[in-house]
Amino acid sequence: MTETRPPAAAADLGVGLLGCGTVGSAVVRLLQTNGEDIRRRTGIGLRLARVAAAHPAKPREVRLEAGMLTPDAAAVVADDRVDVVVEVMGGIEPARTLLLDAIRRGKSVVTANKQLLAQHGPELFTEAKRAGVDLRLEASVGGGLPVIQPLRESLAANRIQEVVGILNGTTNYILTKMAEERWEYARALAEAQRQGFAEADPAADVEGHDAAAKLAILATITFGTPVRAGDVYREGIRRISAQDIQFAEELGYVVKLLAITRESDGRVEARVHPAFLARAHPLAAIGNELNAVFVRGDAVGEVMFVGRGAGGAPTASAVVADLIDIAWNRRAGAHGRVGFVAMSTRPLRPMEETASPFYLLMQVADRPGVFARIATIFGEEHVSIASVVQKSRGETADIVMVTHTTDEQQMRRVLSRLEGLDVVRTVRNVIRVVDGKA
Ligand SMILES: NC(=O)c1ccc[n+]([C@@H]2O[C@H](COP(=O)([O-])OP(=O)(O)OC[C@H]3O[C@@H](n4cnc5c(N)ncnc54)[C@H](OP(=O)(O)O)[C@@H]3O)[C@@H](O)[C@H]2O)c1
Repeated sequence: MTETRPPAAAADLGVGLLGCGTVGSAVVRLLQTNGEDIRRRTGIGLRLARVAAAHPAKPREVRLEAGMLTPDAAAVVADDRVDVVVEVMGGIEPARTLLLDAIRRGKSVVTANKQLLAQHGPELFTEAKRAGVDLRLEASVGGGLPVIQPLRESLAANRIQEVVGILNGTTNYILTKMAEERWEYARALAEAQRQGFAEADPAADVEGHDAAAKLAILATITFGTPVRAGDVYREGIRRISAQDIQFAEELGYVVKLLAITRESDGRVEARVHPAFLARAHPLAAIGNELNAVFVRGDAVGEVMFVGRGAGGAPTASAVVADLIDIAWNRRAGAHGRVGFVAMSTRPLRPMEETASPFYLLMQVADRPGVFARIATIFGEEHVSIASVVQKSRGETADIVMVTHTTDEQQMRRVLSRLEGLDVVRTVRNVIRVVDGKA
C-alpha cells in the first residue's frame, strides 16, 4: 500500500504589509480566508507579521491582531519577523525608499505600485538583482490578470513581436457605454463615476496616464530595455464623440484606448491612444471595465489574457500568488529570479517615425469641387485614401476618410494643409486605425 504524504512543511513566510487600503485589506482578507487552503495545497504558510497604515485609528474592513498595525512603515521593513515586504501604499515616496531599504536588507518584495515602477522600475530591478532577492510586480499591471509572469516565464522562448493591451477599465467602460447606449462622452463618464469605475477627478484614466504607466512596465519586461511612463506617447479619450463611434461601427471597427508596444529594427515603440480597432481583432470583444492583453510571439502566435484589471480582491489575488512564488523560490534556495529583466538600452522609436492607417472626420462646405481640393492635398503628400464617405448636412457636409498605412509625419503635413483650406470648416477628429496585422 502506498502512503500519500502532505507536502513538506516549509518555514512560514513572515509578511510585512505597507498599506491597508483597498488592496492591502483585500490581501489581509485573502490570507485570512484562504491561508489554510494555500498551506494545504502548497505546503507554504504565509504569516502576516506586521502592517503599516498612515492613520492606524481609522476603521478598517479587516480585523488585525492587537499591536500589528503601526504608522511606522520603516519599522515594518526593519522588523526581524518580516521576511518579505508587500508595498500597497502607492505614490513614489516613501514607497521607493522603503522598497530599496527592504531589498538592501535581503528581503524579497512585492509591489502593486505602477507609478513607482513606471518611473523607478529599472533602479529597483537592478538593486534586487544585486541583492539576490525577488522583486515581484504582477499586481501592478492589469490587477488580477496574470500577464507579467506569462511574459517573463511562460512565453520566454519567444521573440515577442507586439503586446497590445486594454489596460484601463475606466476608459474601456466609458467607450463601451458610448457604443452601446449611443451616449456622448460626458454622459458615459458621469455613469462611470456613479458606478464607481471612475474617480471624481478622472484625468489619470481618461488622459491615458494610468495606461501609459502600465505600458511602460510591460514594455520594460517584454523588451528588457528601460521604458518609463514619460517615454510613452500618450493621447486620451476626451475628444472621442458619439459620431466617431457611429462611423467606426459603419466602417467595421470599434473604438478602444489601446496601449501598444512593439519592437522592429532593434527599436522599441510604446504608445497609448484611442484607436479604430478592426471588429475581428480579439481585443474588440473586450467590453465594460475588463482589461485584456494580447501578445504576438514568433513561436506561440497569438495569446490573450482577459480579466478584472482593478479592485481589491482581484489585485490581492495577484499579490498573494507572488508571495507563494517567493516562498517556493526561498524553499528551493533560488532567490533573485527577477526574470529576464536584464537591462540593455535599446533606442525608442519616436512617434513621428511610426506609421498606421488613419481615420479622419472633417466638416466641409457642401459645394462642388471641395472634395477634389481635399484629394489633391492627399495626393501631393503621397497619402493614399482607402475609403471615403460624404454625408450632406445642408450648408456643410461630413467627410469621413480612412487612409492606407501612412507615416505619422506625412499625416501631420496633410492635417496642417487641410486646416489652412478655406472650404474645411473643421477637422473634428483624427484617430489611428489598428487592423490587427503585425
Ligand atoms: N485599487 C486597485 O484596484 C488597484 C489595482 C492595481 C494596483 N493598485 C495599486 O495598489 C496600490 C494601493 O492602492 P489602493 O487602492 O489600495 O490605495 P488606498 O486604498 O489609498 O490605500 C493606501 C494605503 O496605504 C496607506 N499609506 C499611505 N501612505 C502611507 C505611509 N506613508 N505610511 C504608512 N501607510 C501609508 C494608507 O493608510 P490609511 O489607510 O491609514 O490612510 C492606506 O491604507 C497603489 O499603488 C495602486 O496603484 C491598486
